[in-house]
Amino acid sequence: MKILGIETSCDETAVAVIEVNTETDISVLSNFVSSQVKLHAKFGGVVPNLAAREHAKNIGKVFKLALKQAKIKSINEIDLIAVTRGPGLGPALLIGLTFAKTLAWQNDLPIVGVNHLSGHIYSNWLSPIKEITDDKCRKVKNIFPNLNLVVSGGHTELVITENYNKFKIIGETMDDAIGEAFDKVARLLDLGYPGGPVISKYAESGDSTKYPLPRPMIYSKDFNFSYSGLKTAVLYLIRDLKEKNTNIDGKVKADIAASFQEAAIDVVVQKTIKAAREHKVTSVMLSGGVSANKSLREKLQFACTNNDYTFHCPEMRYTTDNAAMIAVAGYFASKDRKTSKKWQDISMDANLSL
Ligand code: KG4
Ligand code: ZN
Repeated sequence: MKILGIETSCDETAVAVIEVNTETDISVLSNFVSSQVKLHAKFGGVVPNLAAREHAKNIGKVFKLALKQAKIKSINEIDLIAVTRGPGLGPALLIGLTFAKTLAWQNDLPIVGVNHLSGHIYSNWLSPIKEITDDKCRKVKNIFPNLNLVVSGGHTELVITENYNKFKIIGETMDDAIGEAFDKVARLLDLGYPGGPVISKYAESGDSTKYPLPRPMIYSKDFNFSYSGLKTAVLYLIRDLKEKNTNIDGKVKADIAASFQEAAIDVVVQKTIKAAREHKVTSVMLSGGVSANKSLREKLQFACTNNDYTFHCPEMRYTTDNAAMIAVAGYFASKDRKTSKKWQDISMDANLSL
């Protein structure tokens, strides 16, 4: 079956077409993302109404490109529409939802509303999933129960998946999300927005032991996180360096970036392994925009291998927001008999939880 995915929860207008034969045989026929990063960069973060305006301006074009690349001549070749209904920015979500519902109504197509976080979790199904399938990549090995670390600009969550669509959040951030901390630290260092990619670039040449920074809640008994204290520690570090007349040049920025990145990653890696042990899972999956971070991927992979957990993370191109992940999550959601596929029943929920 062919699924059209639509994603507008934040600052990416994304449309994709995927073809699903079986749960391990999924091809991405097209995956277009129109990013608004440059527009929001001057404000240091995403402005919801501006994001909505840009989505409204671009969604038609992105939709046409996605159909063209997927060689879809008529919308009737699509078997299902999957659209993000939350969590996200209300005005931004409404554009994608209204576009998708109109398409479904006009062409009498089934439609499912997708949870953005389940999209990140299912982005792992878009890559050749060798690690979690049998030798010929035909059948998914016994991966359940499975632990997902979802790390993005808005979320830091540990989610147990007992089976397809059976999600249980066992830990989440009490304040800032990890991606938000990367973004805020980049702003403190005048490195622009979004912060994740630039901080990780600077960290590559920095000394991560130069500035000892806190690892908040690393030893707490629960699986929750807190990133605002780490961000504030960086704020005080920069203030103290300035008071000592230290020039915050490229080298100092690289050392701060490396020290921050290591502290931020240490916490999620350590807590993920602790949660995997306590919940006796068989596999661990990483997803969300921050999963693009090379150091996080390597450290979590290493920790999982050492502790005998199968590890999987999405291909780089499916880490940050995209619509292929929404389409694949829509496929799994549509298998759930309780999910309505009528356009009248799909509604936005900006604070939707998994
Ligand atoms: O999943 P995503 O595209 O959007 C949300 O759902 O929030 O994640 C965006 C977040 C931003 O905070 C961005 O700074 C972060 O992912 N990010 C990274 C990297 N690439 C993107 N964080 C750390 N290292 C990266 N390489
Ligand atoms: Zn996201």
